[in-house]
Amino acid sequence: MKTLIRDATVVLPDEVTRTNVLVDDGKIVAIDAAAHSEAEEVVDANGMHLLPGVIDDQVHFRDPGLEHKEDLRTGSRACAKGGITTFFEMPNTKPATITQELLHAKLQRGAERSVVNYAFFMGATVDNVDQLKLVTRTPGIKIFIGSSTGNLLVDEQAALEAIFAETTLPITAHCEDEATVRANKQRFEGVNDPSVHSKIRDHEAAIVATKRAIDLSTRHQHQFHVLHVSTAQEVELLKESPEWVTAEACPHHLFFNTSDYATLGTRVQMNPSVKEPKDNAAIWQALLDGTIDIVATDHAPHTLEEKSVEYPQSPSGMPAVENSLALMLNQVNQGRCTLEQVVQWMCERPAKIWHIPTKGQIAVGYDADLVLVDMAKSAVVRDEEQVSKCGWSAWHGTELTGWPVRTWVHGAEVFRDGKILEEPVGHEVIFDRNS
Ligand code: DOR
Repeated sequence: MKTLIRDATVVLPDEVTRTNVLVDDGKIVAIDAAAHSEAEEVVDANGMHLLPGVIDDQVHFRDPGLEHKEDLRTGSRACAKGGITTFFEMPNTKPATITQELLHAKLQRGAERSVVNYAFFMGATVDNVDQLKLVTRTPGIKIFIGSSTGNLLVDEQAALEAIFAETTLPITAHCEDEATVRANKQRFEGVNDPSVHSKIRDHEAAIVATKRAIDLSTRHQHQFHVLHVSTAQEVELLKESPEWVTAEACPHHLFFNTSDYATLGTRVQMNPSVKEPKDNAAIWQALLDGTIDIVATDHAPHTLEEKSVEYPQSPSGMPAVENSLALMLNQVNQGRCTLEQVVQWMCERPAKIWHIPTKGQIAVGYDADLVLVDMAKSAVVRDEEQVSKCGWSAWHGTELTGWPVRTWVHGAEVFRDGKILEEPVGHEVIFDRNS
């Protein structure tokens, strides 16, 4: 099907320009197409901004096994609403994704349920390196160097050395030092105020583990991506690391800090924990100066009932896929960054880092994963309007200006003015590590 998106302000790799984009058979076939090009469907953008669809490399969609929190249908529909056209899902499901067979079964579920493009990380354990060496159809290997939700943990040095030495896929990791966290847990035993979470999962825990992982990556010259940077000191470590080490920031580490426990309680309980205002500032600055490459969500839904259990029994995690782009567009409107930078952080860099040659840009021959955003639209985030199965947002009550209004996945319209497609039109992401 041919679609002409007419009169959009298009964010291209080198310029932002008002033009027409022609899509055919799931691909972008012309930019600056004649306004009268033949098409089955014509979309009048009326000058609104057209961006490449967002690639979110860190979500937890809980499918299989924890589907009372989220599943691939609800999570992917939340993505469509949020302008995310591709997600990479983490392996801490039930069962955990630790064999090729389990990974390929998840891909099958993605095909059956996802309205946006999907990929799944392979989880590392202390003894599955043979699986990690063989596995195909994945962005890479996820290591929990510190434990979080679920039971995946690789803390022994010998096992970590083997993974970095013997595998070739890109590696990413949850970096919080297990020994530091355990010692802190004992110190604060019996404290039920959720703000103690940032003292248990403290700066030290994040710094020690990130340093350890960067050291492994450096010695083994192995591509490595630091997930969810939460401290100013990790930013300093990244400045001195090799170019094959990349990093990401999450909205909660940009916009929340320990002062938010007073109003939000366990809603801001995350691993790694939110830290101090000076960490927010350093992470923001690291995005602006290129030390941190990308923005991803770590969308980690739990039900409100689960979240309302007294700390420390309350689980860590918050949902974010349906608001992450709007949160960043709101920053553009506030003058803190440009729209081109947001496209760099959320579309172009993730595609480059994870070796997806057909995504991340609006360019001829690329996949027609697109999002039309209305930079002037203001709306308040509301728990009751969230399509994530968990039904809440830590940004409840926050007004944001700049929202996705239409989203296409391989040329299929999956979101328009509040309505989300039901059919699972998402495609498996194809990685090309030779590109
Ligand atoms: O807060 C978190 N929750 N951090 C993680 O790394 C995992 C996630 C989850 O799966 O709930």
